[in-house]
Amino acid sequence: MAMTIKNEREIQRMEAAGHVVALVHAAIERELTPGLTTADLDEIARNVLAEQGAVSSFLGYHGYPAHICTSVNDEIVHGIPGRRRLCEGDIVSVDVGAILEGFHGDSAWTYGVGAISDEAAALLRDTEEALNRAVAAAVSNHRLGAIGHAVEAFARSRQRGVVKDYGGHGIGRQMHEDPHVPNIGRPDRGVLMRTGLTLAIEPMLTTGTEETRTLGDNWTVVTADGSLAAHFEHTVAVSPEGGRVLTRRLSSVLE
Ligand code: MF3
Ligand code: CO
Repeated sequence: MAMTIKNEREIQRMEAAGHVVALVHAAIERELTPGLTTADLDEIARNVLAEQGAVSSFLGYHGYPAHICTSVNDEIVHGIPGRRRLCEGDIVSVDVGAILEGFHGDSAWTYGVGAISDEAAALLRDTEEALNRAVAAAVSNHRLGAIGHAVEAFARSRQRGVVKDYGGHGIGRQMHEDPHVPNIGRPDRGVLMRTGLTLAIEPMLTTGTEETRTLGDNWTVVTADGSLAAHFEHTVAVSPEGGRVLTRRLSSVLE
């Protein structure tokens, strides 16, 4: 689907969709505790989406069977919620997309379940920082490669694997619009990012390999070597000051 530039009114509508996504994350983060199943997280999402008059971007997408994606430990993305019980020490990437009044918001966050290892905690910190740097690089009239470069340079400085098989995307009235947003790159490559281009930026880093494998359910993507993976994603609008985050987290409502 083509690349589209949004005006201020459209960006505000995406921000409204992004706020619903943030509300889903806040509810899941509040409830998350060892012993819950990933299907329980899906139900929390379903309820918040319904309360807000929004629908999941993912449910039914190419036959995807759930409202959110839940990817545990060595699962990178597209894990399907189900009977799996979360244990103390697990990390779980929760990916949420919402459609509100015709516009999508899309954001993923990786949470620790109870107390997690220092290794896992460091991976989460590094991946969140990679996202922050990538968001800051979404500057008007810079090239798209600046985003991938920001992710890749930071990840390499921390000896992290960077997943190249998956990346971010343009977003708006469609969940997936052009351009594809790689997590590697060079600042002098790629299309010029215009003000009002809206992107989902989503670095995925690992403690080991960069190679991926898809499980027999045809959705769940895992690290080929079983190492841990983390995934953080925001929907942003390109601006002269860098990416304006449209899926801002609501830590203030978490008490
Ligand atoms: N954030 C992911 C993406 O943008 C979620 C897609 S899950 C799917 O690709 F089920 F909808 F495919
Ligand atoms: Co996405």
